[in-house]
Amino acid sequence: MTMEKLRATGRFLRYSPRKSLFDRRLNPNSENSIPNSASGYGMDLASNVEIFNSIMIIIASGMFRHVLASMDHQGKTARDCIEKGLLEDTRRIQHRCFGSLAEEGSSKLLLQPQTTEEVSQILKYCNSRSLAVVPKVEIQVLWAEVFLFFDEVVINMSLMNNVISFDKVSGILVCEAGCILENLITFLDNQGFIMPLDLGAKGSCQIGGNISTNAGGLRLVRYGSLHGTVLGLEVVLANGDILDMLGTLRKDNTGYDLKHFVHCEGSLGIVTKVSILTPPKLFSVNVAFLACQDYFSCQKLLVEAKGKLGEILSAFEFLDSKALDLVLNHLDGVRNPLPPTIHNFYVLIETTGSDETYDRQKLEAFLLHAMEGGLISDGVLAQDMNQASAFWYLREGVPEALMKAGAVYKYDLSLPVEKMYDLVDEMRTRLGDSANVVGYGHLGDGNLHLNISTPQYDDRTLAQIEPFVYEWTSAHRGSISAEHGLGLMKANKIFYSKPTATVKLMTSIKKMLDPKGILNPYKVLPHSIDSHS
Ligand code: MLT
Ligand code: ZN
Repeated sequence: MTMEKLRATGRFLRYSPRKSLFDRRLNPNSENSIPNSASGYGMDLASNVEIFNSIMIIIASGMFRHVLASMDHQGKTARDCIEKGLLEDTRRIQHRCFGSLAEEGSSKLLLQPQTTEEVSQILKYCNSRSLAVVPKVEIQVLWAEVFLFFDEVVINMSLMNNVISFDKVSGILVCEAGCILENLITFLDNQGFIMPLDLGAKGSCQIGGNISTNAGGLRLVRYGSLHGTVLGLEVVLANGDILDMLGTLRKDNTGYDLKHFVHCEGSLGIVTKVSILTPPKLFSVNVAFLACQDYFSCQKLLVEAKGKLGEILSAFEFLDSKALDLVLNHLDGVRNPLPPTIHNFYVLIETTGSDETYDRQKLEAFLLHAMEGGLISDGVLAQDMNQASAFWYLREGVPEALMKAGAVYKYDLSLPVEKMYDLVDEMRTRLGDSANVVGYGHLGDGNLHLNISTPQYDDRTLAQIEPFVYEWTSAHRGSISAEHGLGLMKANKIFYSKPTATVKLMTSIKKMLDPKGILNPYKVLPHSIDSHS
């Protein structure tokens, strides 16, 4: 996926990195800006020279063995690369960061630390020179804006990928931040445990990125949020101080709970290690793909599922017929497991338990009850893991299908379940035939993914969507970012979900922990709170 393609999808269209950086550099009052003395910002020659010097200093000091490891191709050392001017080939850095997503960025330096101590030295150095850094942790492609970079020093955590310990009695896993989620899932599987988090992007996303965004995923309804299952963290602060909070205790009420590094989007510190509570693996998994005539039936089905399936309910996801159509039309190898009658909504229910016969009977009894009560109009129960995966793909494939369909305006909202789909209906009325308005998501968590698909991006459509979507969400006391983070594009929208006093406190915390604002700049917090005071 090239940047051009992403532009076509509207994903990165609403800002120009160069322009926005320039604007903010001119605004000394900006709350979320870096001091003008900061190097590593903007495209000016001085900052490039500064970064170049930094590389040489870092390498010369022997402090860092893995500078530009990715550029170490064809037997060249990092120093060769720099001396021979290969440093100018920033595309390779960007490629390592986002595949080819971020061709507009212009970072000159990608560092791959192997230890917490190295992360600490890098930050100490960058902080002393006011060099901005972006922790680069693999995350879901669609959330890339959280860690999008301009010309910051990129810190890639992928070499810190060790499991440190696993306690089979407590189920507590301690690992480094660069571990790929899928590798952790496989590791735990061999131990008879599972990760409490599962995502479509598990093959590439890293646990540090999941934590920094408090990724919700598909099984939050059962295992709760990462914020809850993370027991401890090791974090490096902007000034290089290492905060060892890597506890493995379920209960610890000493002092304040400093868990704000979970979902700080890398803006308060860099998570280097984590301890997580993992549940035991249960072998009886069932997946049903169901059709509902209206949204009210989906809601009632959720209430019934919670009551009747109780402890074995592990996922409750929904998609509307427009979302399913996109999947069927744009993804290869998918088919609708239900007869081709048009249903308005589809629900995927997964149960996970320890007794195959009992769990299956329980689910079948529930489905019969729901069918008799008119809550579901049709449905299929997976007969094996292949069918279960195929059903899951119908749901997990929606974002991919949307990307293939054209431009997409994406909104990730938390709303009261009973009101959630009204927004989709209202948006359809607003946009008429000019757009395909799609609703899907984690119904069990009250998390709607409202996506608006159009042939191409245009400002008129955007003006019909925003700020309406944010005002609507705010009026219903929802959240404008349920699980994807605010990143760059939504930083200024925070006031739709948080009162000014709360944002002020957040700003103070940021100033205290990162006074020079070097960590993942411009993201999360608004660029000014003055107009909201
Ligand atoms: C999902 O639940 O499929 C994703 O969070 C949606 C997305 O990445 O846009
Ligand atoms: Zn989601």
